[in-house]
Amino acid sequence: MAICRSKASMIGTKFHADLVMAAKLALVVLLAVTNLTARAAGNALSELDKQCLSCHSAKELAKKLANGETLTLHVPAQEFAQSVHNMIGCAGCHADVTLNDHPPGKTKAAGTREYTLALTEVCRSCHADKFKLYEGSIHAALLRDGNPIAPVCTDCHRPHAVRAKAARESIADVPCRNCHGSIYDAYAESVHGKARSKPGNTSAPICADCHRAHDVSAAAAGDHVKDACLACHQGALASHQTWLPNAARHFEAVSCPACHAPAAKRKVDLRLYDSVAQQRVAEKAGVPQFESRARSADAKGAGLDAMALQSLLREFNRDGIDNRTTLRGRLEVSTGAEAHQLAAAPQAIQDCTKCHRQGADPFQSVTVSIVGPDGRPLRYGAQQEVLNSMISVDSVGGFYAIGGTRIKLLDMLFALALLSGIAVPAGHLTLSWLFRRYAKKIHEQDAATRSTGAEAPK
Ligand code: HEC
Ligand code: HEC
Ligand code: HEC
Ligand code: HEC
Ligand code: HEC
Ligand code: HEC
Ligand code: HEC
Ligand code: HEC
Ligand code: HEC
Repeated sequence: MAICRSKASMIGTKFHADLVMAAKLALVVLLAVTNLTARAAGNALSELDKQCLSCHSAKELAKKLANGETLTLHVPAQEFAQSVHNMIGCAGCHADVTLNDHPPGKTKAAGTREYTLALTEVCRSCHADKFKLYEGSIHAALLRDGNPIAPVCTDCHRPHAVRAKAARESIADVPCRNCHGSIYDAYAESVHGKARSKPGNTSAPICADCHRAHDVSAAAAGDHVKDACLACHQGALASHQTWLPNAARHFEAVSCPACHAPAAKRKVDLRLYDSVAQQRVAEKAGVPQFESRARSADAKGAGLDAMALQSLLREFNRDGIDNRTTLRGRLEVSTGAEAHQLAAAPQAIQDCTKCHRQGADPFQSVTVSIVGPDGRPLRYGAQQEVLNSMISVDSVGGFYAIGGTRIKLLDMLFALALLSGIAVPAGHLTLSWLFRRYAKKIHEQDAATRSTGAEAPK
């Protein structure tokens, strides 16, 4: 029964979608035909468009809006003639403007941004699919939150100058650059940016290939960016396995740029993780708790120490299942720009001791994070000791990074294994078996220590 109903409604939806599509096509064809018959071939303008442009190609034409801002009314005639929208003409987007009562204009927008936000709605009538993707993006979420520079369609596509595949012409023209300048600069110098700027190369990725253009989501949320890397570099897991023990585990616990941006500073992010739902803990909509809980746990304001971290976790576990909220460690680069400084493979970090050594750099800087309301992580600083402390061995249990963490004996085993040159993958199996057994033992020992109430040794 349920199946029948959903099938019927699916057919209904599809039928409706077909109708909308047909109507839309008819509109475009109609606009195109009227526009085409009214003009000569090629990139010429229709008669009506020429009339509009007889006034609007003037550079100085402008209008004052209610808040005092100036709206320039100049439309570049030549660029419009060459744009994909020449075929629909001015009327395709400005149907409300009719020459018998224009000028004056009808807009009631208070300022230029309001004007843009109102007019960009017109794109929806012909590109509903892109609009829908966009509405699920972090950019749209930021816009709904009132962020004044969150982009809408016309921030990435100049409405009077959209050319076919314009966004792909040269990396310097990529619209993302306008707002993410420092990331663009890092990207342009990367192995991908350099390859992509060679004429004719479209195989190396640009922003939208890793982040998508319309349904952009928070970069550190989920695995979508890593999945994009692996979709192009399909042999990567296999090739790393030839030298890196348990490469799959490394791919989870170490971000790709942490090894491939050799100049970057690295750090550890301990992510609050819901072990029942098996996903990262997200801030509940409208009830910000993380910051205030972290701040009250961190009374001294020096960053969370092991006790403070423990009490923060207790807060998150308070009314739920015991130990439901744990932590998952991830080794990553410390800034967004650094994530884009990808270098050629021979420069990547291969030296195990860069990470697996007592006091290794990446483990000296630690944050704790939760997923914020728009998908971006909210981070709070923690002291480096939380990785070594027996108190947090429970919660950081999934993160047995040798050298970086508490388990000194493991470090020795590891060093021994390397010294004695145990071959990979045989060595890898032995090592991980040893680590797992030892870690389990530590864990039990720790549980016993705590149940006797004794101070945990460090
Ligand atoms: C693809 C849709 C589209 C087409 C076709 C189009 N416009 Fe626009 N127009 C817009 C949008 C959207 C805006 C708001 C621009 C913004 O973001 O500021 C706009 C703004 C304007 C403005 C206000 C000044 C400005 O640039 O913001 C004028 C004047 C204008 N258009 C005239 C024209 C004329 C003349 C034509 C034909 C030659 C034309 N438009 C074709 C979508 C279009
Ligand atoms: C005779 C010159 C002239 C012609 C022809 C003309 N415009 Fe305008 N247009 C203006 C002036 C002047 C303004 C500013 C009006 C004001 O201050 O309210 C304006 C404003 C606009 C605006 C700004 C929106 C608003 O509500 O103020 C748009 C969009 C626009 N024109 C589109 C068009 C289109 C499309 C055509 C062709 C169908 C066209 N114009 C033809 C002179 C002209
Ligand atoms: C009346 C219908 C209509 C409206 C309204 C419209 N477009 Fe288009 N748009 C088209 C048509 C037709 C094409 C060309 C179709 C094609 O080649 O696939 C196109 C193509 C595009 C392209 C693709 C260029 C490429 O890569 O080939 C972009 C980007 C685009 N439009 C953006 C916009 C934006 C932004 C707006 C709102 C300011 C808008 N469009 C409003 C009809 C419309
Ligand atoms: C953050 C920047 C950004 C915003 C916002 C944005 N676009 Fe795009 N859009 C792009 C980029 C980049 C491309 C080229 C992507 C590619 O080549 O794969 C693109 C491509 C397109 C295309 C052609 C793609 C195709 O597959 O044919 C259309 C149509 C389009 N955009 C319409 C829109 C509309 C409508 C909106 C508003 C809802 C919008 N875009 C908002 C960046 C943006
Ligand atoms: C090769 C894939 C790739 C390309 C190309 C790429 N990025 Fe990224 N981007 C990433 C990765 C990986 C991250 C870090 C994700 C994480 O933290 O897990 C990131 C993070 C980001 C962030 C979040 C930064 C922060 O402060 O956390 C932004 C914004 C961003 N990228 C924008 C861009 C822009 C704009 C471009 C084009 C100039 C671009 N990216 C090109 C892979 C890419
Ligand atoms: C008009 C300005 C503007 C443009 C153009 C723009 N963005 Fe953004 N974007 C923002 C703002 C503002 C944020 C909020 C975070 C920030 O300030 O970095 C953001 C956030 C992001 C994030 C999430 C950052 C995180 O911390 O995870 C990504 C990814 C991103 N943009 C990618 C892109 C890509 C890809 C493009 C081009 C297709 C693009 N942006 C174009 C303004 C813009
Ligand atoms: C522990 C560090 C480390 C991590 C994590 C890592 N890599 Fe690598 N990667 C390397 C090193 C070192 C090389 C060079 C190996 C060689 O020269 O044999 C390499 C080589 C590569 C190559 C070129 C060779 C090939 O396989 O085609 C690609 C592409 C690559 N890595 C992609 C990735 C991606 C994608 C990720 C994340 C999913 C990733 N790497 C994670 C260290 C790492
Ligand atoms: C759209 C496909 C695509 C995506 C997505 C992509 N790459 Fe690449 N990558 C390439 C291509 C093509 C090259 C070769 C560039 C050249 O010509 O030098 C390359 C080169 C590399 C290299 C250098 C390999 C060498 O042999 O020196 C590394 C490392 C690398 N990519 C890592 C990554 C990482 C990490 C990600 C995700 C954050 C990623 N790539 C996403 C296509 C992609
Ligand atoms: C960029 C830092 C980094 C580099 C370089 C690195 N590792 Fe790791 N490695 C880690 C982290 C982080 C973990 C923790 C994974 C986890 O939580 O289980 C790990 C885990 C391991 C494990 C345990 C895997 C398991 O099965 O649980 C072994 C074994 C290991 N690394 C060996 C190596 C060897 C051998 C090398 C050099 C060829 C190397 N690693 C290079 C960061 C690194």
